[in-house]
Amino acid sequence: MLSISDLTAGYGKLMILHDVALNAAAGQFVAILGPNGSGKSTLLKTIVGLTTLERGVIRFDGQAIEDRRTETIRSLGLSYVPQRENVFKSMNVRENLLLAVRDLAKPAAAAALDECYVLFPILHDRQSQRAGSLSGGERQMLAIALGWLARPKLMLLDEPSAGLSPLFVTEVFRTLRALRDAGITLVVVEQNARSVLRWCDYAYLLRDGQVAFQGSAADLLADEETVKSYLGVAITRKDAVPI
Ligand SMILES: Nc1ncnc2c1ncn2[C@@H]1O[C@H](COP(=O)(O)OP(=O)(O)OP(=O)(O)O)[C@@H](O)[C@H]1O
Ligand SMILES: [Mg+2]
Repeated sequence: MLSISDLTAGYGKLMILHDVALNAAAGQFVAILGPNGSGKSTLLKTIVGLTTLERGVIRFDGQAIEDRRTETIRSLGLSYVPQRENVFKSMNVRENLLLAVRDLAKPAAAAALDECYVLFPILHDRQSQRAGSLSGGERQMLAIALGWLARPKLMLLDEPSAGLSPLFVTEVFRTLRALRDAGITLVVVEQNARSVLRWCDYAYLLRDGQVAFQGSAADLLADEETVKSYLGVAITRKDAVPI
């Protein structure tokens, strides 16, 4: 679904990512881990054409997209949920959702919203609340829902669980797994390695803009020393126990 090779990119003349290669097979939940400033957000931004690309190939669903515009990439079926500024704060929840389905005919839009409320019940309860006054977890659910309403084949999410209480972290990951089980490929940036390794299929560790380590979630959990040295956190096999 997504295949990146030999990618060097950054901002203007400043290159942040160096020779990055990454793959996400259809229906896979891939995590990108790494310390602050390691280039995780830059990698997602690069996939959707928001950085300066020096070289590299990015293929999405069989097409090279590294020269495409952000809007074109989106229309091909790739949704990007950024780390910040991911909802329209001055509008209420329903208005945000309606904006995401504005191109659909009325009955189709109504059906999409109904389906959305089944997948994200909390948004149904908060329909008329201003997005700017939602709690962190509710807001993250809205951001994910907005990405999902575009009916993507692939979703890129930048730290969907940041700043959330453990209960909401679980809720967010449970929702992401449901999206994956519905066939959507996920590439998710996460600081919280312990949590995401319970839910993802495969993970990449970035350090200083390079892939320092990669493996299945099970491989990473089994390789405690490597993970500890790259992430500075101890992960033990008991972390793999599903919640
Ligand atoms: N618009 C920009 N212009 C110049 N440099 C930038 C820009 N955005 C990010 N950087 C730099 O690129 C590097 C990687 O940043 P990036 O946001 O990709 O890291 P990250 O891994 O997502 O970190 P975090 O975990 O803190 O979100 C950092 O050194 C950052 O200062
Ligand atoms: Mg980031």
